[in-house]
Amino acid sequence: MITAIIVAAGKGERAGFAENKILKELNGLPALSYSLSACSEADEMIVVCREEDEERIKKLLSPFPNAKICRGGATRAESVYRGLKAAKGEIVLVHDAARPFISRKTVSDCVACVKEYGSGVCALPSTDTVVYAENGNIVSVPPRANVYTVQTPQGFYREKLLQSYECALRDGAERFTDESGIYLAYVEPPRLFLGERENKKLTYPEDFKPAERVGFGVDTHAFYAEDEGAPFVNFITLAGVRIPSDKILKAHSDGDVLVHALMDALFSAAGLRDIGYHFPDSDPQYKNADSMKLLSEALSRVKDAGFSPKNVSLSILAETPRLSPHIDRMKENLSDALGLPPNAVGIAAGTNEKLGYIGEKKGITVYACVLCSKQ
Ligand code: CTP
Ligand code: MG
Repeated sequence: MITAIIVAAGKGERAGFAENKILKELNGLPALSYSLSACSEADEMIVVCREEDEERIKKLLSPFPNAKICRGGATRAESVYRGLKAAKGEIVLVHDAARPFISRKTVSDCVACVKEYGSGVCALPSTDTVVYAENGNIVSVPPRANVYTVQTPQGFYREKLLQSYECALRDGAERFTDESGIYLAYVEPPRLFLGERENKKLTYPEDFKPAERVGFGVDTHAFYAEDEGAPFVNFITLAGVRIPSDKILKAHSDGDVLVHALMDALFSAAGLRDIGYHFPDSDPQYKNADSMKLLSEALSRVKDAGFSPKNVSLSILAETPRLSPHIDRMKENLSDALGLPPNAVGIAAGTNEKLGYIGEKKGITVYACVLCSKQ
């Protein structure tokens, strides 16, 4: 029988969030959930946690009937010890909840290593030179080929690890940072197995990259044909800029086809419905609407959904009018409206080589792509 002990009873002080870092959302799920999934094939999972996180953690355990909770202690060693006392497995794997990127392969490699060698400590060969220093001076330089950085999980036979923890806690466990040191001091040199670079520990706020989402939008507007009685204006509007044009775009609003494609891309990145849903053209309030105003409304809906744009990339296909003299002003307008630096707004314009409806000057199409981060 195998027990995975997932230690989650720290405070996450260095991460500095209002909540414990192991409950912080990562790509839509609390960090702890990833370790639970990766270890779920163990016969038993014990999550060691603080009293104040217990309610939230219990909810995360509901998909895992083999998981239960145990109360942690003031230090990591104390928390691991409590987990060991609660565990029933012959083999135990100790894993930090602060390492959510653990794979199932690493878990099974750990178990296999324990079965073959009696212990299995997840480690990576060091890519940096590691030195031993005292008072700011290098005292010795171990050969890099012998230097590893140690991660979790770390697997052992429970009885042996429990005994070594009892000795360490009796003698003062402060000098040990993990199981491997304690096992080495009181039992025998533990065996290493090769881990994965992705299995990083989340310690500081910058280790928690916000989730990112792309969004894509397309819009096409037709020009009035010669015999269709276009309104008496001589411009089209793109990104709020009036661009002199013989041909006039048909539209319910101001016909800003570029902003419409952009709004669809923004809504799409945030997983919201499209522009037709948010601003229906059956609604008289949007007749002749200023699309730049709609853009700021769209942006606030996207922000309410928890997303903000990081950069936008737009491609305009138009045989006419000539756009290049206006691109800089269009970029300025969009960077102001979206609150982005000018170099985060890209606009390309081209013809369609006289092909199709664009080439025949029957209309304009714009493609928009945005990258949003989750706030
Ligand atoms: N841990 C624990 N009990 C403690 C201290 C730490 O179970 N008393 C756990 C943490 O929840 C984490 C792992 O041990 O999953 C590694 O510890 P660390 O990265 O130091 O996390 P924290 O102690 O929470 O962070 P900090 O030191 O910044 O407060
Ligand atoms: Mg700590």
